[in-house]
Amino acid sequence: MRQPIIAANWKMHKLTAEATAFAESFLPLVQDSNAAEIVLAPPFTALATLGAALKGSAVQLAGQNVYPEEKGAFTAEISPQMLADLGCRYTIVGHSERRTLFAEQDDFIARKALALLDAGIRPIVCVGEHLEEREAGRIEEVVGGQLRGSLASIPTGKASELVVAYEPVWAIGTGKTATPEMAQEVHGFIRKELSERFGASAEEIRIQYGGSVKPENIADLMEQPDIDGALVGGASLDPTSFARVARLQRS
Ligand code: PGA
Repeated sequence: MRQPIIAANWKMHKLTAEATAFAESFLPLVQDSNAAEIVLAPPFTALATLGAALKGSAVQLAGQNVYPEEKGAFTAEISPQMLADLGCRYTIVGHSERRTLFAEQDDFIARKALALLDAGIRPIVCVGEHLEEREAGRIEEVVGGQLRGSLASIPTGKASELVVAYEPVWAIGTGKTATPEMAQEVHGFIRKELSERFGASAEEIRIQYGGSVKPENIADLMEQPDIDGALVGGASLDPTSFARVARLQRS
């Protein structure tokens, strides 16, 4: 049985005081819910503050990115060990904004995923096609290629610690969600790819859907057999709306 996992990707939003205020409103709304494991990924600058505010709760802290070296002359970068030091249990890698705006490639993402696992942090590895690729019938080629490239270095023994997030790029921040059936089709394909790569462990890997997830669509998405949670951007910035998503509830 895979435990659902709902993660907030705050992107470049919230100052420290806003992160604290979010935690104060959000925690009481989810404290009696065990519908899903809940993860918050604030900007690096709010990790320490938010981590302190989450102490004693079951809500986990996550980074939004990482550099795949332990230490060294890498100005402005953040290592897995630094994230672990602040209490991060998860970290997002390969988000489409990193791939598109910062030209991150699969081999770099693969190094990040492995470096995180080595530091005891679970990577949330993002994949997803652009609209033109979908329209050209290239979803499996694109998503399959990203998966093979981004997971190239992961040992089978650690596969169950992975989380994969399928985020069709055309659905991110646009209000256009894939229908649950469209999402399931790709999630099923991802599960098949993962089982070719990792064998039976693929059944333990959680696959999140991402792209305009909100309280109104989470329950229908979660009914699909291979959708194990969500990576949520816009709707995660408001404590009430993210609490509804994290409780897997429309209201
Ligand atoms: P969105 O973002 O929920 O605002 O579409 C999702 C994401 O980019 O992870």
